[in-house]
Amino acid sequence: MTWVEAVKARRPVPNGRSLILAVETSCDETAAAVVEDGTRVRSNIVSSQIPVHRRFGGVVPEVASRRHVEQITAVMAAALEDAAVRPDDLSAVAVTYGPGLAGALLVGLMAAKTFAWVYRLPLIGVHHIAGHVFAHRLAGGPDPPWVALVVSGGHTELIYVRDVNTFEILGRTRDDAAGEAFDKVARALGLPYPGGPQIDALASDGDPERFAFPRSFLEGDSLDFSFSGLKTAVLNLLGESRSRREPIRVEDVAASFQAAVVDVLVEKTARAARRHPGVPVVVAGGVAANRGLRRAIGRRAEEDGFSWSAPPGEFCTDNAAMIAAAAAPRVGRGWVHGLDLNAEAGLDLEDWAAGHGVVIFPREDPPVRRA
Ligand code: KG4
Ligand code: ZN
Repeated sequence: MTWVEAVKARRPVPNGRSLILAVETSCDETAAAVVEDGTRVRSNIVSSQIPVHRRFGGVVPEVASRRHVEQITAVMAAALEDAAVRPDDLSAVAVTYGPGLAGALLVGLMAAKTFAWVYRLPLIGVHHIAGHVFAHRLAGGPDPPWVALVVSGGHTELIYVRDVNTFEILGRTRDDAAGEAFDKVARALGLPYPGGPQIDALASDGDPERFAFPRSFLEGDSLDFSFSGLKTAVLNLLGESRSRREPIRVEDVAASFQAAVVDVLVEKTARAARRHPGVPVVVAGGVAANRGLRRAIGRRAEEDGFSWSAPPGEFCTDNAAMIAAAAAPRVGRGWVHGLDLNAEAGLDLEDWAAGHGVVIFPREDPPVRRA
């Protein structure tokens, strides 16, 4: 029996029930996890490459790929072992196939495809940002619809998630991602990579009003973001203080910079929430771990009367459990990919949600492909 026949012949999984092994290697974390029904984390293994990339001040793609190759088998085996699950118990294998570093994505994808082929399991390709959006489900978050703010090292997006297969981008960054701005400012301050957590820690001892950094709200009621002007303002301030030999407190720079990022993120999120009254807000991605952002969103939610949630820190930064959470709604529907699934460094989120690239539909008609 071929893999396709075996996958088609599997007993249908009752809707909402699943046991998924997920793999994530889009950037600098080699991760695998086992998640039950898209919400209960049975295991969550993350092998971080941060110390490897630190001496370069950022992620070096080729180094990341090689490191994934070294780690992936052990990480997947550990995820199964921690969950006390045998491959035959699984209902599917999920894997991030974009967006991300092409070489890094390929490592996880090849490992997941091989596993799926050997054990005759359905393969579910997942969009990395969808993973972030679903992460709060691992901590008891609500069912969709959601207004999602995704703030990570590579992305800053506001998304209206009408249902699990209808995502609408409301706004996105026109230049730097929020996490990228944190990392670049931290680097200029001489702090190690990744800079977000360092700035978060320093900011709690600083004066957020010491420096009036610019807040870019863009034209009209746009929900797009721009952080490059803010980053430049911080770099200029540091340059001036150095040339005038006037020392400034790093804590104050960190607090003032963080306040400027947070002001914009919170204001735009509140606007998006106003456009979708009654819809809960979910905040996700590495920067969602930021304490200043969480406090400010919490305050604004109370003032404006919207509900909100964010996953605990371990599910904010890259992990594979969130990839399983995003894959779970697809298991019951039979929305799976073929073994020819390829890495897509620029995978589109709305297309992914609508079922673009899905090839086997044992239980439902295929969705209409978007033009
Ligand atoms: O989601 P993530 O782990 O990877 C990407 O998909 O990019 O996000 C990593 C980003 C980095 O830029 C890092 O500096 C930032 O999230 N980050 C934070 C915090 N923790 C991680 N930024 C601000 N405050 C934090 N506590
Ligand atoms: Zn991420």
